[in-house]
Amino acid sequence: MNERTVSVKTAGAVGGLDVGAIRRDFPILSRTVGEHPLVFLDSAATSQKPNQVIDAEAEFTRHHNANAHRGIHMLGEEATQAYEGARATVARFLGAPEPETIVFTRGVTESMNLVAQGWGRTHLREGDEILITEMEHHSNIVPWQMTAAVTGATLRYIPLTDDGLLDLSQLGSLLTERTKIVSVTGMSNALGTITPLRQLADSAHAVGAIIAVDAAQLAPHSPIDVQALDVDLLGFTGHKMLGPTASGGLYGKSDVLESMEPMLGGGEMIHEVFHDHSTYKSAPFKFEAGTMPIAQQVGLAAAIDYLDGLGMANVRAHEEEITRYALDRLLDAGATVYGPKDASIRGGAVSFWFKDVHPHDLATILNEQGVAIRAGHHCAQLAMRRYGVPATARASFYVYNTKDEVDALVGALDHAQAIFS
Ligand code: ALA
Repeated sequence: MNERTVSVKTAGAVGGLDVGAIRRDFPILSRTVGEHPLVFLDSAATSQKPNQVIDAEAEFTRHHNANAHRGIHMLGEEATQAYEGARATVARFLGAPEPETIVFTRGVTESMNLVAQGWGRTHLREGDEILITEMEHHSNIVPWQMTAAVTGATLRYIPLTDDGLLDLSQLGSLLTERTKIVSVTGMSNALGTITPLRQLADSAHAVGAIIAVDAAQLAPHSPIDVQALDVDLLGFTGHKMLGPTASGGLYGKSDVLESMEPMLGGGEMIHEVFHDHSTYKSAPFKFEAGTMPIAQQVGLAAAIDYLDGLGMANVRAHEEEITRYALDRLLDAGATVYGPKDASIRGGAVSFWFKDVHPHDLATILNEQGVAIRAGHHCAQLAMRRYGVPATARASFYVYNTKDEVDALVGALDHAQAIFS
C-alpha cells in the first residue's frame, strides 16, 4: 500500500469514493519503483484489477472450468451458467433490454471490426458514406478503411476544433442521406473529449443512418444507458474497466445484430452445416465462434459488480474532480494540454507536452520517479496530426488515483525539467 494515499478520501459531487479503501483492493498499487511508490497513471491503456476480479477469475478456473455451451456434465452446466450470468450482468450495466443484445468479444478492437465487417460488408455499397471523427482510435478507423476498400463506400470525418471538441458546425454537410453509419468514440483516449452521443444518434437516425459507438474509454468512466442514448451498436473493453484482458463485447439492437453477418466461422456459431453452406444461430451466438474467453468474461462480471458497488455516478464524479485538479496543476506547471480544458465535458485521459521534452524521454524520467504514464500517439495519429504533434505524454486516472498522485506527477515534471535544462 502506498502510505501517502491511504488516508485520502476524495469527495465527489455525487457522494464521493473512499479511495483509501479502494486502493486496499488493488495489490499491485503497493508496488514500488526503486525507492518510489508506484504512481500508476496509465489506466486508459489498461486498468489495474482488484482482488475481487482476480479471485473471481481464479475461482472459476479452479472450481468450475469447462467449455460453455458444450458439455451437459456438471462442470459444463456451471461454466455455461457463469458465462451467461456474465452476459446478463453486462446487459444490466449498459441498460440493455436483454442479455441476448450483448455479444461477447475479446475487446473493443474486435467489436469494431465485427461492426465494420459484419454490418459494413452487408449494408454498404458504392456511393454510401461512413462518417467517423478525427479523434478516433485506430480501431475505429482502420476497420472502416478496410470495409470502404471492399465495398466502395466512402469514409468521411467530423473534424476537430482547436479546443479538442468535435466541430459539429459542419455536420449538416457531412451527415446526409448518403451516410449509412456514424461510428464514433464515446470518449477520446487521446484528448479526453466526450461525444454528445444522443445528439449524434438523433442526427444519424434523422437521415436513416445507424450509429455505432466505441465505448472503450466511456464505459469504464461514466454511467451508460444504451436505450436512453438510442445508439444502435456499442463496443466496450473489459480490461480498461477493472476486468481481465480479452474480455469485452458489443451491444446491439436486436434487429441490427440480426442483420449482421458473422465475422468468424467455426464451432458453436452454426445451426446446421452442409457441404455447400451453413446456417447460423441467432445473435449473439452466431458471433461467438470457437471457445470464448470464459473465465475472463466471468472476471468482467466481477469488475462490473465492483463498479456498481462504487456507483458509476460516483466514479464519474471522482474522475471529474481529479481531472480538474490535474488540468489546473499541469497548466500551472507550463504544460501544453491537448483536448478540452473543462473537466466537466471530458474524461480523465490528459494528453500534454511538457516544455521541450519529448514525451518518450519524459515518460522514461517519470518512470525513474515511480510515475507511470503513456507516451506516444495513443493509436490516434489523426488527432496527433490535427494538433501538429507526433506524440504526447498522457496521464490517465481511475477510481484508485488520488490528488497526491497528481502532485507526484507534477513533482516528477519539475525533476525532468531540472535534468533537461
Ligand atoms: N487504447 C489504449 C490506450 O489508449 C491502449 O492506451
